[in-house]
Amino acid sequence: MPYVQADNSGGLEKKITVHTLQQMRGREKFVMVSLYDAPMAAMAQKCSVEAVLIGDSLGMTVLGYDSVIPVTMEQMIYHVEAVARGNNKSLIIGDLPFMTYATPEQALSNATRIMQAGAHMVKIEGGAWLADTVRMLSDRGIPVCAHIGLTPQSVHKFGGFRVQGRDQERADTLLSDAKCLNRAGADLLLIECVPAWLGTAITQASDIPVVGIGAGSDTDAQVLVINDILGLTPQPPKFSKNFLEETGNIPGAMQKYRDDVKAGVFPSEVHTFS
Ligand code: KIV
Repeated sequence: MPYVQADNSGGLEKKITVHTLQQMRGREKFVMVSLYDAPMAAMAQKCSVEAVLIGDSLGMTVLGYDSVIPVTMEQMIYHVEAVARGNNKSLIIGDLPFMTYATPEQALSNATRIMQAGAHMVKIEGGAWLADTVRMLSDRGIPVCAHIGLTPQSVHKFGGFRVQGRDQERADTLLSDAKCLNRAGADLLLIECVPAWLGTAITQASDIPVVGIGAGSDTDAQVLVINDILGLTPQPPKFSKNFLEETGNIPGAMQKYRDDVKAGVFPSEVHTFS
């Protein structure tokens, strides 16, 4: 018998799909957690977290690298399989790691492996240059989450983990990237570390759900990394919050994060960039 079994005693009742998230848009915020293993995935299901991401942040949070760049397809597949074993209700999104989607053909072949490991959607980082890739995957039935803004796989190009879009030129590029990826067939857009006004502008310009992390409170959904929720990050980013501090236990911390996003209490001004 597996260590963790997905169960139906509380938590999400129905399976969450891209259609569910689209339906929630404008009615109710949805919640995403980036996590990496079966017990946390099962807890997310019990806490009614609609989407779980197996982020390549696992390179830094679990595997001890100082960036996401060393993460391999094999590591991603191992963790996607673990999460899928622990949760049979949330939408499961798997990251494609660094340089595994440099061409549309490479993206198709690697996205196939992530989907076969148990994901329902793949996430890729980049702007308008990814439009052909998004179209290629989407046309073949692979849902895509397009990640823009601070894209950690490009950390060396950015010269560090910096807020993106504070200057008008970069903000305009991000807005037009969002529109382009939306038109190309992306099902979700994820924006990281941008001023709140830009998070609002991108959300208003999109007709797909927009998930924010450090992008203000107006996006359709929020995502946080489990290590940040549980206070395990030595130098936590401004946009994150340690929910364990106020709840004192792990399920309580995940539940509080979820409830605060739903209530529009998180993120607040102190977690937001201007
Ligand atoms: O890898 C990850 O966990 C992510 C989130 C920070 C959005 O990309």
